[in-house]
Amino acid sequence: MSEKEVLRIEELNVFYGAIHALKGISLTVNEGEIVTLIGANGAGKSTTLNTICGLVKPKSGKIIFEGKDITGKTAHDIVKMGISQVPEGRRVFANMSVLENLELGAYLLKDKAEFKRRLIRVFERFPRLAERKGQLAGSLSGGEQQMLAMGRALMSAPRLMLLDEPSMGLAPLLVKEIFAIIKELNEQGTTILLVEQNAHMALSIAHKGYVLETGKIVLSGPARQLAENPQVKEAYLGGVKGGQRRHILSLMVPILAMKQRRFICMNMPLFHFLIFYAFIINHYFIYVRKWHFSSYKAIWL
Ligand SMILES: Nc1ncnc2c1ncn2[C@@H]1O[C@H](COP(=O)(O)OP(=O)(O)OP(=O)(O)O)[C@@H](O)[C@H]1O
Ligand SMILES: [Mg+2]
Repeated sequence: MSEKEVLRIEELNVFYGAIHALKGISLTVNEGEIVTLIGANGAGKSTTLNTICGLVKPKSGKIIFEGKDITGKTAHDIVKMGISQVPEGRRVFANMSVLENLELGAYLLKDKAEFKRRLIRVFERFPRLAERKGQLAGSLSGGEQQMLAMGRALMSAPRLMLLDEPSMGLAPLLVKEIFAIIKELNEQGTTILLVEQNAHMALSIAHKGYVLETGKIVLSGPARQLAENPQVKEAYLGGVKGGQRRHILSLMVPILAMKQRRFICMNMPLFHFLIFYAFIINHYFIYVRKWHFSSYKAIWL
């Protein structure tokens, strides 16, 4: 794989009013790579992509694409330069046909022959879109809408594709299909920055990964190494099952105790203590260690 740098982010700070959403993050994406950015809800993953795309203006820091400073450029200019985003939740135009959605992806293109070539390539990649080209995008299934959103992004022939949670809301089989497509796109030459909560799948196809926690990058490295990292395993790869066990056990203590009525009558103070203990333990795992929720999500997918 070539080591040519496609994207470099330096010390990016983004605020939404008083909310400091990105706290000086830096990352690089090299040509031909899939780089994944993983993290829990609200970590700042979408903010990172939206800032690269020019939809959100950073307070400080730099975004360098193919050696050019694109910080603060408009979204329109950034698409022109070769970056395209598949947004979170697909955002297809529901009342427009599949074909019209794809046409919008190439709205900057004037060359009709090139437009046709790109359309053929997208239809070859996603035969289901070809079968449904006249159908309203809003009537497509979740997986088909994801394919349409990816097809629309491909219509601008991007050199860097930003994917925001492509697996969101899809059944496990479709998640596999979408990830296989992402891998293929990459093998055919598209560099990809992939944002995911499904850390397991993302790390399985990525070359490199970054872990984002409340606006800061806390870990980074080759994807395989990250997948083996105990912190990542515990927080994002289902290692939390230990936490779930503690969670369930802590709930079971008072339930089992309740079954023993005689135990309760004879040990009222102890029983109250057990309920208090269960409350504290659950509170700790649910609210203090916020990753708990995202890890549940990772396990489901
Ligand atoms: N338009 C906005 N206005 C105000 N705050 C925002 C806005 N967009 C995001 N935020 C806040 O910025 C932080 C990062 O949000 P972001 O959407 O980037 O997280 P995320 O990692 O993509 O989360 P998720 O996995 O839920 O999509 C959150 O605290 C969020 O509430
Ligand atoms: Mg998001």
